[in-house]
Amino acid sequence: MRELAVSSFGGDYRIVIAPGLTSTLGERLFEIFPGLSRVGIVSNPVVWGFHGEEILRTLSRSGIESLVALHPDGEPFKTMDSVLALLDRFIEARWERRDPLLVVGGGVTGDMGGLAAALLLRGVPLVHLPTSVVAQVDSAIGGKTGVDHPRGKNLIGVFNPPRAVLSDPEILRTLPLSQRRAGVGEILKYALIGDGALLNLLSERIEELVADAFSSELWEEVIGLSSADKAGIVSRDEKESGERMLLNFGHTFGHALEGALGFSGMLHGEAVALGMLSAARISESLGIAAPDTFEGIRRLVARAGLPVSWPGEITFDRIVPYLLRDKKARRGVVALVLPEEPGRVRIVRDYDPDILSRGVFS
Ligand SMILES: NC(=O)c1ccc[n+]([C@@H]2O[C@H](COP(=O)([O-])OP(=O)(O)OC[C@H]3O[C@@H](n4cnc5c(N)ncnc54)[C@H](O)[C@@H]3O)[C@@H](O)[C@H]2O)c1
Ligand SMILES: [Zn+2]
Repeated sequence: MRELAVSSFGGDYRIVIAPGLTSTLGERLFEIFPGLSRVGIVSNPVVWGFHGEEILRTLSRSGIESLVALHPDGEPFKTMDSVLALLDRFIEARWERRDPLLVVGGGVTGDMGGLAAALLLRGVPLVHLPTSVVAQVDSAIGGKTGVDHPRGKNLIGVFNPPRAVLSDPEILRTLPLSQRRAGVGEILKYALIGDGALLNLLSERIEELVADAFSSELWEEVIGLSSADKAGIVSRDEKESGERMLLNFGHTFGHALEGALGFSGMLHGEAVALGMLSAARISESLGIAAPDTFEGIRRLVARAGLPVSWPGEITFDRIVPYLLRDKKARRGVVALVLPEEPGRVRIVRDYDPDILSRGVFS
């Protein structure tokens, strides 16, 4: 078991990472909310189909009543309509402000459940039980919540830090392998911006993370190190005025690629892996990255079974409109997060825009 602390404007909170934690959920919740009598659960039918029964059983064993609200699975349902439907369910049950919401799912569920918790009765306590790799190492930590708008992803939302994040690496066993692999794309990002421990571990054992067999001990360690990176960064810069931007490594080109593909055909973590390679290529062209940076990252990405070249139909011209829409752009200039050497990235705003085309390669 590992515990991490996150400091936040909404109060400090803990991340607990423990294999098998789900089976002692009731006790965990009592530690956070002494005297707890009921909890609202936000999930989706896929995740709930796998884990709902065990969660309901452990909560009822602790004498905690649960009210479950499910939203349809998938990014297309990450909408205000879905959040309103979740809110209906709790309002009809005469929810009270002290009754917490427990959000059980991947990043889509976490983002919507977090927003619902902020809006319900002007705010009820929120606990995340993240069930995907992305949710455990990224979306459940740091307080960002939100939904998509037809004009773009995550355009509506609020900061709503949770009271706790309860991560059970064992719950990742039921996650499809493609999702687990895409999660490794996001983990590679932490390895390349953080201290050397995670990078060393991945350099030795990255294949095991994407193997059919699920290695519980390795996943616990990797989730722990990645969560620690994210927790450290958001504790120092919660509202993204500086350091938190480093987390955008791989995301400028990654998001543009996802946009050009119409958000289908490639998972987010796969696009991020390619986006990190784009950044490395640009960085080498600008003379910022140490020689071999691109090649070193490419080898790791390939070993994880993630894509190492851009889809043929996506030319640079096709991604330009999406690059300019980047939320981190200022007056039309996209801030680039560029690798310098393993473990170090830098934000660059002053560059010749022609260099951007180096980011798309086959
Ligand atoms: N708030 C943030 O800081 C932040 C950070 C990163 C990503 N996000 C958001 O997170 C979303 C992506 O998250 P995601 O990759 O988890 O996608 P997701 O929530 O859609 O989950 C991926 C798929 O895996 C399923 N699933 C999840 N856990 C499972 C389990 N244990 N067993 C079986 N199936 C399981 C889901 O039902 C879904 O079908 C995006 O909407 C993104 O914008 C938010
Ligand atoms: Zn990401």
